[in-house]
This record gives sequence, structure tokens and C-alpha cells, in this order.
Amino acid sequence: MKKLGLGVLGLGEGRSIISAGMQSPLWEVTALCDLNEDLCRQRCAEFGLKRYTTSMDELLADPNVDVVGIYTPDQLHAQHVVRALSAGKHVVCTKPFLDNLKHAKSVLDAAARSGKRVMVGQSSRHFAPFARQREHFQSGVFGDLITVEAYYHADHRWFLKKPWAKLDSFRWLYGCISHPGDLLRWYLPDVDEVMGYSLLSPNGRELGLVHPDTFHFVVKAKSGLIGRVSGAYSGPVVPTTRDSNMSCILRAAKGASQADYFDLRYAWKIEHQSVLETFEDRDDYFFRFGGHSHHAGEYQNYLEYFARCVESGETPRPDVSEGIVTVAMMQAMEESSQTGRPVRVADVLVRHGLGDLAG
Ligand SMILES: NC(=O)c1ccc[n+]([C@@H]2O[C@H](COP(=O)([O-])OP(=O)(O)OC[C@H]3O[C@@H](n4cnc5c(N)ncnc54)[C@H](O)[C@@H]3O)[C@@H](O)[C@H]2O)c1
Repeated sequence: MKKLGLGVLGLGEGRSIISAGMQSPLWEVTALCDLNEDLCRQRCAEFGLKRYTTSMDELLADPNVDVVGIYTPDQLHAQHVVRALSAGKHVVCTKPFLDNLKHAKSVLDAAARSGKRVMVGQSSRHFAPFARQREHFQSGVFGDLITVEAYYHADHRWFLKKPWAKLDSFRWLYGCISHPGDLLRWYLPDVDEVMGYSLLSPNGRELGLVHPDTFHFVVKAKSGLIGRVSGAYSGPVVPTTRDSNMSCILRAAKGASQADYFDLRYAWKIEHQSVLETFEDRDDYFFRFGGHSHHAGEYQNYLEYFARCVESGETPRPDVSEGIVTVAMMQAMEESSQTGRPVRVADVLVRHGLGDLAG
């Protein structure tokens, strides 16, 4: 299998994808790009790389770059995805794929025109407990799904030091609810209607946040199944002995399961059998630097999944359509929390010229 050449755009969180690509036998990190030249030099020194540029155009003109990994601030993803596709590159874009639907149609059209692959880097799908839960559920032993509960709570006050976190365009609803929202849609792809509440906590307001940092939503799928998504980002979290920052709970006809981000736990019950599995022995693979705030192992897993899809012709998921519908679900959540009414995802899609994705 020919190695894919990876060009990384944005070298903050991009650090994790560099590590992922460097350690994978399926990839070669061929170019780095950031507007901040000091950071380019720092990453080159850290990973023993030589080539960097501060110009995205130069990165896109590089024939050794097959795939552009986009790790720039949320509000720039749409334009960077379109530019990379227009230059004939495949794209892996970190979450949130987009920070609203304003430019979603142009992203969809650019992907169709290019014939290239676009995958959203929904890292949590590739973390051991969530991957195990998925494979276990798909084996059929739990029977028919009844409901899904996904949440992501984290003390992200440190993140608010980044200048773009204080811009009007920055919203935790997209930045972070994209994790549990994607986990929910993995199991309930046909989300029809959402409703819920959000608030900006005193902690967040004091730190200069202008949009909500605390969320609780319920969703209804076309199948009639229901689910729940929540998140809170400006305060302490419960100790991991009692809770996990991120969890996905599946309740089904014959059993139930819970995948926990911390401490890499997966618990399940079928009839009278209760089992707790842990993947703590993989801690060093998933977390390579920065304690538990960076998780390069997930990125390596999704990069390798992407490479295998390109080789086999399979569509890597979430693809551009799935990614846009998840953004539409989050936009419906935002509208519901602003109006106090339930909002249909299809209505949001139609309003943005994306009726074909409404299903
Ligand atoms: N679990 C995950 O998948 C995960 C975790 C953390 C962050 N992220 C995402 O990664 C993205 C980046 O977050 P971050 O924390 O690294 O932010 P950051 O501000 O630390 O880094 C972004 C970098 O992009 C660079 N940049 C901005 N515009 C550019 C341009 N036009 N060309 C080249 N470089 C440019 C900036 O100079 C900066 O170094 C965000 O979308 C964030 O949501 C994903």
C-alpha cells in the first residue's frame, strides 16, 4: 500500500495529527503549515521534520501532499476545506466540521466537484472504549436499540486564553457538542427533531465568553427512538472514579452498555452478566504528550481508517454529508435553545439549500 502524503494546516492541535502520521506505517508527513512561523519551527524541531511553510497556497501546490489535515480555528474550516478540495487534495478536517451551515452548500458542492474524499476527524469514535462499544453493539447481542445518552463535560477554562475563543463566531455548542452529538448520530443517524436549553455560566461570562457554555438537549429520531446530549465547559468536573468527561450510554432490548472516555472504561450488561472492561494498558498509545488534553492515538486510528478507505474505495465516515447533517442538528439545537421550541433538522437543512440531505 502506497503511503499517503499528509500536509498539516494549523499546528496547535495539529501536533496530534503530526504525531499520528509520523507513527503510522500508512502515512508520511510531508509538509507543515501555520501562519505562526515560530510554531512551524517548533513543530519541525519536535518531530525532526524539515519542511514548513506559512502559506496555505504553498502547501496546496506541493505535489507530495495527497491529503490536507485541517486543524485551524473552527470558523476557518469551511474556507480551508473548499480551498484544499479545489486544489485537488483529499481532506481530513477536525471537528467541528463547520461552525454553522452558512457555507455548508459550497463545501458540499466543492466536494462533489473535486471527486476527492472528505472525512471529519471525529476522534472519539476512534478511542478504544467507544470503538469497542460500537463493535459490540453491532454484533447484535444487545438486541434493538431503545435510547442513547451521550455527554461531554470538561473544564475547558484553559482554552479561553486562545484569542479566537472570545470572538463572536466561537461557540462551544459546535466546538464541543460535536463530540457527543456525533456519538449520538452514530446510533441515531435519522435525528428528526431536537429541543433543549443552554446557558452562559457566570464562570464563562467572567472569562469573556459571549455564547453559552452549558447545554442539555433531547432528540427524537424518525424511527421514534429518543436520545439525549449534554455538555458543560466552564467549571470543574466530577472525579473520574464516579464519572467520565465523555460517555455514551446505549439502552437496548436485551442489555445496556456505557463507554467512558476516562479511565478508558467500557461497562456492559446482558441479562445477568455484568462486565467492566478497561483499556488502561493503551494509555501511552492514546496520550503521548500534554497529559490527557491531547490524544494522538485516536488521530492515528482515524488516519489509518482513512488510508484503508482510500485504498479500498470505501467512503470514510463521517463523510461530507454526514458531517453537514450533524452541524445542522447542532444548529437546530441552537435555535431551539434560543426560541424555547422544538426544531426540525430538515427545516434547518432546507433553509440552507441542503434539502437533498434531509432524507
Ligand atoms: N478532539 C479533537 O478532535 C480536537 C481537540 C482539540 C482541538 N480540536 C480542533 O482543532 C482546531 C484547532 O484548535 P487548536 O486548539 O489547535 O487552536 P489553536 O489556536 O491553538 O491553533 C490553531 C492554529 O491555526 C493556525 N492558523 C490559523 N489560520 C491559519 C491559516 N490561514 N493558515 C495556516 N495556519 C493558520 C494558527 O496560527 C494556530 O497556530 C479547532 O477546530 C479545534 O476545535 C479538535
